[in-house]
Amino acid sequence: PSFFKPIQNTSPPSPTKRHTKISVVGVGNVGMAIAQTILTQDLVDELALVDANSDKLQGEMLDLQHAAAFLPRTKIQASLDYSITAGSDLCIVTAGARQNPGESRLNLLQRNVAMFKSIIPPLAKYSPESILLIVSNPVDVLSYIAWKLSGFPANRVIGSGTNLDSSRFRFLIADHLDVSAQDVQAYIVGEHGDSSVALWSSISVGGVPILSFLERQQIAYEKETLVKIHKEVVESAYEVISLKGYTSWAIGYSVASLARTILRNQRRIHPVSVLATSFYGIDEGGVFLSLPAQLGRSGVLGVTNVHLSDEEVQQLRESAKTIMEVQDQLGI
Ligand code: NAD
Ligand code: LAC
Repeated sequence: PSFFKPIQNTSPPSPTKRHTKISVVGVGNVGMAIAQTILTQDLVDELALVDANSDKLQGEMLDLQHAAAFLPRTKIQASLDYSITAGSDLCIVTAGARQNPGESRLNLLQRNVAMFKSIIPPLAKYSPESILLIVSNPVDVLSYIAWKLSGFPANRVIGSGTNLDSSRFRFLIADHLDVSAQDVQAYIVGEHGDSSVALWSSISVGGVPILSFLERQQIAYEKETLVKIHKEVVESAYEVISLKGYTSWAIGYSVASLARTILRNQRRIHPVSVLATSFYGIDEGGVFLSLPAQLGRSGVLGVTNVHLSDEEVQQLRESAKTIMEVQDQLGI
């Protein structure tokens, strides 16, 4: 018996909007920061959690469910079994080993590739129309692996890439100039990691190209300051990991912003890891790295044609080479 009595002349229920579902694989620091940001931002009707650790999974599910009275209604489920992810619009993968203090992201490769072989095929099987959003590191190589293992078209495989690095970059520039990070438009592209590339030539603050902004404010343009800011971006994760053991809050917000753009078809531009072959003279076949890409309901809608200086193009190609060298070692 239903709790509610229907009113007279009722037609069968028809959903007023499409039911949306996100699955998150890996309920560690990163997966849970993403899950909780998605819940507080009311992005989906259904959230499915998968992990290999049963107790942790049940505990995290219950803890989130117990916040129900304070959140918009979302169905939250968890299981070791991937059938729970069936019919997802978006599958976010955060499972895997993370860096020890001082360890590089690329060092995680062997362990996480092996794990992906048991994660990606069932996700693709249960949600063949979904978009895969990879977060586990090294995110660029693992996005390529996920593309191969899923058999999905490239527009439906995205790595969170330098969306996070770009936020760190915008924060540091904003801090330097004493403005809001939301008024700073700036991209880091290339590898999410040590060979990332700062696009100085296209930075603007409040719509004003940064170089003329600095001139107007009579702040001397010092190349070293800019280089120092990029170095700080690259070292950000190492610093946080050495202090608290892992990074979580910023990646949580970063991935939730990608989920919002994708599920709500916002057509916003994010620097994320995409199949980059043929862009900016990158001739390596099958390399994923971050470029400013327009995202929407069908995944990657296109890559923005941002002007890069010759130096930036050169650095981007070097970054592609770095990723390819690592990928080649896998023999895939
Ligand atoms: P964590 O150790 O807290 O969590 C990892 C989770 O993966 C654990 O809950 C573990 O049980 C689960 N897991 C392990 N093997 C599994 C399997 N086969 N199937 C399903 N689940 C499995 O680690 P974390 O701090 O959450 O980091 C997770 C990953 O995210 C790491 O690779 C880390 O480097 C990466 N990361 C990426 C970014 C980014 O910007 N791309 C940012 C932060 C962290
Ligand atoms: C980051 C992770 C570790 O926070 O890739 O940048």
